[in-house]
Amino acid sequence: MKNVSLAIIPGDGVGREVMPGAVDVLDTIADIHGGLSFQNTWYPYSCDYYLKHGRMMAEDGLDQLGQHDHIFLGAVGNPKLVPDHTSLWGLLIAIRREFQQVINVRPAKKLSGIDSPLRQNEDFDFVVVRENSEGEYSEVGGRIHQGDDEVAIQNAIFTRKTTERVMKYAFSLAENRRKYVMSATKSNGIVHSMPFWDEVFNDVGDGYPSIDQASSHIDALAASLVSKPHELDVVVASNLFGDILTDIGAAIMGSIGVAPAANLNVNGKYPSMFEPVHGSAPDIEGKGIANPIGQIWTGKMLLDHIGEHELSTFLLSTIEEVLADGFKTQDIGGNSSTGEVISEIVRRLKIN
Ligand code: NAD
Ligand code: IPM
Ligand code: MN
Repeated sequence: MKNVSLAIIPGDGVGREVMPGAVDVLDTIADIHGGLSFQNTWYPYSCDYYLKHGRMMAEDGLDQLGQHDHIFLGAVGNPKLVPDHTSLWGLLIAIRREFQQVINVRPAKKLSGIDSPLRQNEDFDFVVVRENSEGEYSEVGGRIHQGDDEVAIQNAIFTRKTTERVMKYAFSLAENRRKYVMSATKSNGIVHSMPFWDEVFNDVGDGYPSIDQASSHIDALAASLVSKPHELDVVVASNLFGDILTDIGAAIMGSIGVAPAANLNVNGKYPSMFEPVHGSAPDIEGKGIANPIGQIWTGKMLLDHIGEHELSTFLLSTIEEVLADGFKTQDIGGNSSTGEVISEIVRRLKIN
């Protein structure tokens, strides 16, 4: 029996609405398999927790989370009550950093059953490999002077080790896909970090002669995601560029509510974290219409990560079958509730 210990953090907003169903889906899959079980420990870490305790997680929260094999997270943020930089740096980003989750893998592909807003070339299937720990997401910088002379400085950090690691991950991934890596750069305008990024991309790329490789400036690449996404296979991007590209990837799939992600610890020392691309969606919170597909597809990435590829393929095909049969939330043109989509997926998993 394979036992996988999961820390479950629903977080805020729609994270709480989609998480129970996504956990149900994983437990159902484990039951079907017979040789797999998840031991789920639920953690209340969220903006509500902050309002009660003055911090986003317990003082030993990271130690607690570190006891588990992996973390399954919903979404974090309630900007009306807690400033985003406080809530995100106190939970989501704290976890990514503590557990060296330096690679964020974010697939985007046309799912059957969801109409893409693209009118042509909509049959795409690519993966953005996002560097997940550096770049503009840095505490280096500050504010100097005051009044009209005030200046805010935000330093972007790019270390050779981490940059090499994300490039290697992207090239290895491409080896098992369509053998093409596109690097997101901006070395025409950003004079230190981006020429360095290009240099590391080219150096690492030399070690993968069987992989086609190219670079595109992020502005042009953003346009390509809309005009010719079918040409892309693996896209490697810095933290901020990857963040933005993956919301575009989500949009061309039909909704940010369907996009999955995996924050990977690649040295095997710490848990990885599985968390969809979307946020807490305060504008639709409490209405029962949040799309659960992003969270459930993220669960599929967890299954892949633990080596359960057959189950993961079965889950994705069940998701597509349910969507194609019209069980869809409003954001992708349906009228089902969150709960109806989840129940239908669980029901089909059991009978298929
Ligand atoms: P968001 O992703 O929460 O919402 C953007 C838009 O997408 C909204 O219109 C929302 O209704 C819609 N949407 C998002 N998830 C959906 C779903 N599952 N089903 C249907 N529609 C969905 O982004 P935002 O509004 O910029 O951020 C809201 C809060 O979430 C902020 O506090 C932000 O910092 C935080 N956030 C957290 C994460 C995370 O925890 N990983 C990611 C992004 C944003
Ligand atoms: C994401 C989110 C986070 C990020 C925010 C909420 C800090 O947008 O996971 O995509 O930028 O990494
Ligand atoms: Mn984002």
